[in-house]
Amino acid sequence: MASLAVLQNPGFEHSPFNPDCAAAYAAWRTRKLAAYPGRLEEVTVSIDDGFALSGAERAALLHAVSRANFAIYQLPPTVAADKAVLRALGRQLGLRRLDSNLCADEDGITSLQVVGPRGVGEYIPYTDKRLNWHTDGYYNSTAEQLHGVILQCVRPAPRGGENAILDHEIAYLLLRDENPDYVRALLAADAMTIPANIQNGVRLRGEQTGPVFSVDAAGHLHMRYSARARNIVWKDDATTRAAAEFLLNLFQQDSPYIFRHRLETGQGFVSNNVLHCRSAFDQAGDGAESRLLYRARYFDRIRDIDRDR
Ligand SMILES: [Fe+2]
Repeated sequence: MASLAVLQNPGFEHSPFNPDCAAAYAAWRTRKLAAYPGRLEEVTVSIDDGFALSGAERAALLHAVSRANFAIYQLPPTVAADKAVLRALGRQLGLRRLDSNLCADEDGITSLQVVGPRGVGEYIPYTDKRLNWHTDGYYNSTAEQLHGVILQCVRPAPRGGENAILDHEIAYLLLRDENPDYVRALLAADAMTIPANIQNGVRLRGEQTGPVFSVDAAGHLHMRYSARARNIVWKDDATTRAAAEFLLNLFQQDSPYIFRHRLETGQGFVSNNVLHCRSAFDQAGDGAESRLLYRARYFDRIRDIDRDR
């Protein structure tokens, strides 16, 4: 127990995410399952003007996020290619502090598209290959974890490029229902290690050891995870390995909790960095016709609807 990453957090004692707090978990679990959407339409919001959300649009987005930790939005397709609208949307939802990662454009927003041999081609997001289940920035240091993500589609691929999404709170719930020791193992500060990123002999990022699940000061659950075996070295412990295996199996099955959707022009996801993956897709030529999505990643979480009133 002494190695749990959350022990310094005063709010953790009575948290539903504390594996030793059965009553708080039971109450939270009932609420979570009752609110969880059955269909994507329940968390899809049409937006007239992304620069100035109406009160109803903003409330609908925050309400959707309170249920599933993500929402789908639909903007007029004519503004799909405008990065400014994505940033404005983020600001109106409490997302301000952008993470400018290695591959981001100068404005801190990343253009996700297939690129040639430009140095980033070896990262799967910039290819047409299938992208396995993960949360964004799982390789970031503990101090720089990402809590909010926006993905906006400028042009879909002619075929494929579908996303699947699973609320990380549901992943926690299913793990804990299976065996509370699984979440205990994944809350441990040394649950996993992400190897250093070394490209052509240059060390771009050091090795990172940390928990899969953590709880922030406000009591929110955060998850860092990649299903890609080479991305993570799991702690050499039977329970940790069994928990990681359980997660992998979860993704192999059809589940009523997993949503699948291919973003069309003008559509996007806003999320509290939920689990997601992407199917392979076909490329249609280069440049002006190829699949293009914008991605913004934030150190902030989407504002809670409860604190918004
Ligand atoms: Fe991602």
